Amino acid sequence: MSESPIKVPLLDLKPQYQALAAELDAAVAEVVRSQHFILGPEVECFEHGVASYCGVGHAVGLSSGTDALIVAMMAMGIGEGDEVITTPYTFFGTAGSIVRLGAKPVFVDIEPASFNLDVAKIEAAITPRTRAIAPVHLFGQMAPMKMINRLARDHDLLVIEDAAQAIGAKQNDRPAGSFGHVGCLSFFPTKNLGGFGDGGMLVTDDADYAAIARQLRNHGMEPKYFHPRIGGNFRLDALQAAVLNVKLPHLNSWHEKRRTNAALYRKLFEAAGLARDISQLERSLERGIVLPTEQAGNFHIYNQFIIYAEQRDELMAHLKSNGVGCEIYYPLALHQQECFRLLAYQQGDFPYAERAAAMSLALPIYPDLTPEMIERVVEVIAEFYA
Ligand SMILES: Cc1ncc(COP(=O)(O)O)c(C=O)c1O
Repeated sequence: MSESPIKVPLLDLKPQYQALAAELDAAVAEVVRSQHFILGPEVECFEHGVASYCGVGHAVGLSSGTDALIVAMMAMGIGEGDEVITTPYTFFGTAGSIVRLGAKPVFVDIEPASFNLDVAKIEAAITPRTRAIAPVHLFGQMAPMKMINRLARDHDLLVIEDAAQAIGAKQNDRPAGSFGHVGCLSFFPTKNLGGFGDGGMLVTDDADYAAIARQLRNHGMEPKYFHPRIGGNFRLDALQAAVLNVKLPHLNSWHEKRRTNAALYRKLFEAAGLARDISQLERSLERGIVLPTEQAGNFHIYNQFIIYAEQRDELMAHLKSNGVGCEIYYPLALHQQECFRLLAYQQGDFPYAERAAAMSLALPIYPDLTPEMIERVVEVIAEFYA
């Protein structure tokens, strides 16, 4: 009897846990023993670790990446009547946070090879109401920050980096989160640095924003029971910080494993004759796929490995029926979402974002994949297009 083919999940967090189980369990047990659950030494230690990792002066532990975006914009006083320029091709939280504060997201289409904001189109979207630009470093590769910062300087705008998917990504050797006025991180379990639940952080070189964010995460309270601002409960849990303190020293080695996996995909897809140039997206991919590209000067951390594929939904069904996990990030661009009809965008307004939503597919890339698993993914895709 022939062996059944190996299964390849999109993500499996168990090997990472097993490798660090003794340390992780001890860290959690220590918090439980101390009964110190809210803020405290684990959170402070993690804040120092991330500030240093991201090359910034201050880091404020928060309850999620979404709350980091909310707190960042609250600290900047962004609200009613303000516009924030961002991408229509991202996780909902980026634009959702802008709308929750009463401001308006103004979308600018993506540049198809990187999936990030097309900087050449930003200036035309700036109006007298624009307060900020919120680029997203999607899938683990940074948006072009030098040009975004130059536009922001020229037009007196704030810059909020949504680095939820990009802790440790770099541009010209400078880390994500250190370019803007503030950077927002997420420690959702699927991120390269993931906790045992939700968590987030605001990183900044600006001592004032950091101090305001510290107040806001604790109901705007300082000192105790005196409230100069209206904040909320946006605190990072001590238990999450304890877990993340154990994981942070391993983060660079996990990035490297993801990058090695990406390089192996590239080699195998090219050897199988399946890799197509992005320019072919305008015509036909001729039974091949477009692989993610690394833009000049970028250190991509591959939070996701995203291909463009024709017959994407059929390919996805074929992969799943052969035991290979995959996912669509994201099936709709944000201007196509029902809840954003109030923004009055039309189908066709952001053609590259719409095309990415229709053709993109995430393949497994997590650090503990074996070469055999990657070979299997390529084999199943080759079968589909044969
Ligand atoms: C680009 C982006 N922004 C914001 C978020 C929100 O982060 P969280 O899930 O920690 O709230 C996420 C992640 O889920 C994300 O991928």
